[in-house]
Amino acid sequence: MTNVLVTGGAGFIGSNFVRWAHNAHPDWQITTLDKLTYAGRMENLAAVMDSPRHRFVHGDIADAAVAGPLVRESELVVHFAAETHVDRSIQSAADFITTDVIGTFVLLEAARQAPNLKRFIQISTDEVYGSVPTGASRETDELRPRNPYSASKAGADRLAYSYWATYNVPAIITRASNNYGPNQFPEKVIPLFVTNAIDNIPVPLYGDGLNVRDWLHVDDHCRGIDVVIDSGTNGEVYNIGGGNEVTNVDLTHRILELAGRPSTLIRKVADRQGHDRRYALDTSKLRGLGWAPQVGFEQGLAATVDWYRQNETWWRPIKEQDQAYRTYYQAQYGTRAGA
Ligand code: NAD
Ligand code: DAU
Repeated sequence: MTNVLVTGGAGFIGSNFVRWAHNAHPDWQITTLDKLTYAGRMENLAAVMDSPRHRFVHGDIADAAVAGPLVRESELVVHFAAETHVDRSIQSAADFITTDVIGTFVLLEAARQAPNLKRFIQISTDEVYGSVPTGASRETDELRPRNPYSASKAGADRLAYSYWATYNVPAIITRASNNYGPNQFPEKVIPLFVTNAIDNIPVPLYGDGLNVRDWLHVDDHCRGIDVVIDSGTNGEVYNIGGGNEVTNVDLTHRILELAGRPSTLIRKVADRQGHDRRYALDTSKLRGLGWAPQVGFEQGLAATVDWYRQNETWWRPIKEQDQAYRTYYQAQYGTRAGA
C-alpha cells in the first residue's frame, strides 16, 4: 500500500480528489487531514468514511505536532488545504497568511524529514499569474498576484519550489483554473448563483460582468493531478486548465437558463476591489504528458446545476441555518450598491 496524505480533503476539490483516488487507486491508504473550517464538511467524505483504506484526522496543517508525523509517514502528499475565497481575503487576509503560507511551510519542513516521500504536490492556482489581458499564461511566466489570496498562494507555490531547489524535497506545483462541480461551497460564483436561482432570488454580478474565467470540471482537475503524480518531474510546474473561457455575464445567463429562471434575476452590483479581468492557461505541458480535459462545459455545468437541485440537504443548512455564513453574506452583499 502507498501511504497518501491529502490535506484539505473535506473541502470542495480535496473531497472530490479523495473520492476519485479511493476508486482509482485501490493500493492507496489515504489519510485526510482537515481543520474543518467553514469550508470543510464531513458530509463531503461520507462515501469513504467507512473504508479501511481511508482515515480522517481533524487538525491544522500549521500545527507541526499533528501535521509533522502524518507527513513523515507518507510516500505522497497532495496539499489542498487553504483559505480559498478571494472576497474573504479582501475582507481579512490574516487566515490566508497563516494557513496558505505558514501552514505550507510547516508541511514542507516535515517533508524534509520524510524518509519515504516520493512526491509533494503543491496545489497552486492560475491566480498567481495575475490578470492576463491577452494570450495564455505559461509555467515560466512571471508571477503577479494581485489580491491577498493569490499572493498567499504565490508564497506557498514558491516556498514549495524552494524546498525542492534547496533541500531536494520532491515537490511539484500544479496551477489550476477555476474549478466547478459537486460539493463546492455556496460562496463561489457557480454554486452561489445556482442556489440563488433555485430559490428564485437575485444573483449579484460584480461590475460589468465581463471578467473572464476558464472553467475546469473538478474531475478533470483530479485526473490532471493524477497524471502529474505519475509522470511529472520534481521541481516543475504544471498548468491545469479547462479551456473554457467564459465571461461572468455569459456564465450567469447559462446558469439561469439551466435553472429555468429569467435574466431579470441578474443584479449588477459594485465590483470586487482589484478584480482580475481575465485568467487563461497554456496547458500544453500537461497535455504533453497525455492529459486532456474530458468534461465539456455545457454538459458539466448542466450536471452541476442538477447536483445542487438534487442535494438541497447539502447546501440549505449552510445558506439558511449557518450564522457564520449569513454574517459573511450580509457583509459581502448587504450594502453592495448597484454598479
Ligand atoms: P475549499 O475552501 O473548498 O476547501 C479548503 C479545505 O481546506 C477545507 O476543507 C478546509 O477545512 C481546509 N483547511 C483550511 N485551512 C486549513 C488548515 N489550516 N488546516 C487543515 N485544513 C484546512 O477549497 P477548494 O476550492 O477545494 O480549493 C482546494 C485547493 O485548490 C486550494 O489550495 C486552492 O487554492 C486550490 N485551487 C482552487 C481552485 C478553485 O477553483 N476552487 C482553483 C485552483 C486551485
Ligand atoms: O482561478 C482559480 C481560482 O478560482 C481559485 O484559486 C480560487 O480559490 C477560487 O475561489 C476561484 O477564484 P475566483 O475569484 O475566480 O472565483 P469566484 O467564484 O469567487 O468568482 C468567479 C468570478 O465571478 C469572478 O470574476 C468574480 C465573479 N463573481 C463572484 C461572486 C462570488 C461575481 O460576479 N459575483 C459573485 O457574487
